[in-house]
Amino acid sequence: MIRLCGVDDLEAGSARRFEVPGLRIALVRIGEDYYALGDRCSHADVSLSDGDVLTDSMELECWKHGSAFSVETGVPSCLPALKAVPTYQVVVADGDVFVVVENHREDRDR
Ligand code: FES
Repeated sequence: MIRLCGVDDLEAGSARRFEVPGLRIALVRIGEDYYALGDRCSHADVSLSDGDVLTDSMELECWKHGSAFSVETGVPSCLPALKAVPTYQVVVADGDVFVVVENHREDRDR
């Protein structure tokens, strides 16, 4: 489990990129809930955390071509991206946000 930030370091409705060993993670906050996705869009090497958080549909929208990825499953709801991005378990404890990456799924085949 790796600490990413404090609970107040990320505004509701926003996303931020974090680098942890071997991974780029987009941390998303919607309300008081936090979600962690692979930061690299599955369509091209673009940082998803630079995109908009769609709070109503609970998606993170790629700024480049507009594919929107579920913050819960990583599955895109629209083209051009076809593949899901990885998702990671988030734990909030004692005012800090952690990501669980022990058994993370590599995205080698993309
Ligand atoms: S780079 Fe993300 S949808 Fe094209």
